[in-house]
Amino acid sequence: MERSLYEPNLGYYERTPKNIGRTGDFYTSVSVGPLFGDLVAFHIGPYLERLGSSDSVRIVEIGAHEGRLASDILHALDRYSGSSTLDFRYLIIEPSKTRRAWQALTLQPFQGRVEWQESLPDSLHGVILSNELLDAFPVERWRWSAAQRRWIQLGVDWDGTSFHWANLQTQAPAHWDLPDSLTQILPDGFVREDNPTARRWWNQAAQSLKAGLLLTCDYGSTPDALLDPYRPQGSLRGYRRHQHVESLLETPGDIDLTANVDFSSLRLVGEHAGLNTVFNDFQRNFLMTIFAQTVNKSDLFGPWTAARTKAFQTLTHPQHLGHAFRTLIQERRI
Ligand SMILES: C[S@@+](CC[C@H](N)C(=O)[O-])C[C@H]1O[C@@H](n2cnc3c(N)ncnc32)[C@H](O)[C@@H]1O
Repeated sequence: MERSLYEPNLGYYERTPKNIGRTGDFYTSVSVGPLFGDLVAFHIGPYLERLGSSDSVRIVEIGAHEGRLASDILHALDRYSGSSTLDFRYLIIEPSKTRRAWQALTLQPFQGRVEWQESLPDSLHGVILSNELLDAFPVERWRWSAAQRRWIQLGVDWDGTSFHWANLQTQAPAHWDLPDSLTQILPDGFVREDNPTARRWWNQAAQSLKAGLLLTCDYGSTPDALLDPYRPQGSLRGYRRHQHVESLLETPGDIDLTANVDFSSLRLVGEHAGLNTVFNDFQRNFLMTIFAQTVNKSDLFGPWTAARTKAFQTLTHPQHLGHAFRTLIQERRI
């Protein structure tokens, strides 16, 4: 998954910025239009002001892809601030030179206000945010062997003509031990994923945050959903032209690969690192809360035009993006 998505020049996220949106392979909340950025900016703007507009306060984004969300947020903050100078610097954490070039192009109008780093700094004040970042981190895939009563990790092998799944010899984490009542009925071949990279990343982000918010929106599940009877093959899936692909291994680099994020684990990791959880729920409820605030402050937010209303429905309606996404916000108070 790592190489299929990120191999320089060949990986799915290295080749073109145009794989998201109507003419691409899948939608994100950002590709629906500027409304998502408008709402996020409306939420974090006052928060940043309270933190103080000292030189060290930043909006930090990871997984910025083409820079669209950054552009939407900066445009919105400029509109909300009117003539006063709400002049926060925007930091993008981007290890890929290719994607940094795409972002620099999109963010040309904000030259001088956006900066880039390859990895998270040790100390940050502000808001660290990401949209659909963690679902694009490489996951481990584990299959239940009913005969052996244990989880077997799956790797990917090459037989000279094609890729195929292969059993690895790794030991499953001890905390995955299941009660006998469950192992007796768990079907052979049941698959679950684990995303240790996401937990490590969340811990690193939490440690680096000295004051402010750590916010992510993504495809979400809870620990119970990791053993979801409706997903016996796990949540790892591939998209091409807005369709699920049959075989995840057939055309590496050519399809998007994604897996649901275990928000409960992230919450625990953040709390262990000293953060308070301020929101952990469906993304539609996060957006609804902000919507309610915009109604009282329409002079600031601007009118709810037909285009905005339609985009809001797409973001929140359960038959569109309102069903699958969750938002987690954790805070370190000063
Ligand atoms: C599903 S796309 C989401 C793009 C964008 N945030 C949006 O919502 O439209 C995931 C993005 O995360 C990026 N990504 C994955 N791992 C990353 C990492 N460690 N650092 C920075 N970006 C990363 C990928 O390159 C890709 O651009």
